[in-house]
Amino acid sequence: MAEETPASGNPGGMFPETVVIKTERRWLYIAAAMLGIMLGVIVATGILQALHPLSYVETTDPTRLHIKGEFVESNLGSALEPDGSVTVRMIAEQYNFAPQCVVVPGNTTVRFRLTSPDVTHGLIIADTNTNAMIVPGFVSEVRTQFARVGEYRMPCHEYCGFGHHGMWALVRVVSAQQFRDLEPEERLHCESR
Ligand code: CUA
Repeated sequence: MAEETPASGNPGGMFPETVVIKTERRWLYIAAAMLGIMLGVIVATGILQALHPLSYVETTDPTRLHIKGEFVESNLGSALEPDGSVTVRMIAEQYNFAPQCVVVPGNTTVRFRLTSPDVTHGLIIADTNTNAMIVPGFVSEVRTQFARVGEYRMPCHEYCGFGHHGMWALVRVVSAQQFRDLEPEERLHCESR
């Protein structure tokens, strides 16, 4: 009489149907509770953590970038630090990077520091680990090293408006010696073709 066994998980009729339904309902509630907990974790981490930019340690006043502080025009571009590393400061704005071309040395730690006065932009440098969002009010800092000399494209990769597709900069990597031979003002920016 095995073919008459109900399909409701009651093999051999060992348990009355009411017990089976009660057990299944209990597991249904447990599964629903687990889903609820996981959803709560996603929402909580989204609100408390993931909404922050990657490197949210530093803030700036996006309305005064051009007037005072680290991101005034004369301070943009590459700067040689006393420890031999290089800091590149840029502003990402609709729809260009300032400066549009920066020169950096190869095989040297390069710190990119970017911020935005308007909307969220993206920082990505082809063939490197450099990838970050640039959010108004925050400084995005990324460290990298360039293993080969040459030119690297740096497109904005966060949709920022009508001109997004035309927003990009150029990173020109020269040898460490060539970089040291440049005058400080020559390090500030270069000509992009
Ligand atoms: Cu800036 Cu897309």
